[in-house]
Amino acid sequence: MNKCSTKQRLAIFASGAGSNAMQLITHFSTHTTISIELVVCNKPDAGVVNIAKQYNIDVLMIDKKKFDADGYLKEILAKGINFIVLAGFLWKIPEILIKDFKKKIVNIHPALLPKYGGKGMYGQQVHNSVIEAGEKESGITIHWVDGQYDHGKVIFQVSCPVLKDDTATTLSKRIHTLEHQYYPLIVEKVLMEKK
Ligand code: GAR
Repeated sequence: MNKCSTKQRLAIFASGAGSNAMQLITHFSTHTTISIELVVCNKPDAGVVNIAKQYNIDVLMIDKKKFDADGYLKEILAKGINFIVLAGFLWKIPEILIKDFKKKIVNIHPALLPKYGGKGMYGQQVHNSVIEAGEKESGITIHWVDGQYDHGKVIFQVSCPVLKDDTATTLSKRIHTLEHQYYPLIVEKVLMEKK
């Protein structure tokens, strides 16, 4: 088969409000070779579930025990998924998915890794730590996913200032703007370069 005609079928894994998921969904909604086919979520009341419904995207609601045991690999493959995008997903990705989706899982982190990453470093917690440490700049990191939290090879980083009066909320707004601007574009670039 001509490699260029291979359709990229993406799953977004998310646990929260889903603002990044929404940017990804709208960005790829008219794409000819890349489509968002599934939202995988661990919280029934997460905002991302409503966003998926609004855009008619299937949701796979997952349970921790089964996720750690078999990664829902069968269910994910049954949807023809060949690339995974983490967008504010709280759980560690199990080994079975890391192996089957080698170099096919990316994550976004709301700080300049390797600083302020790791277990428990999620959303506002990250921004609070950056502010408490007196950092003058923060930013976003898009990276490959390996078996550790916020750890794989960096694909893209961009920074922004941390202002004197910043709270986690004001910094988070600045970071979200960068995430929305860059995540869909970097995911698209990575996928187009894979061809
Ligand atoms: C985003 O800021 C993302 O970078 C972060 O969670 C937020 C989700 O927001 N991810 C992490 O902290 C991963 N360690 P969203 O639900 O509005 O997209």
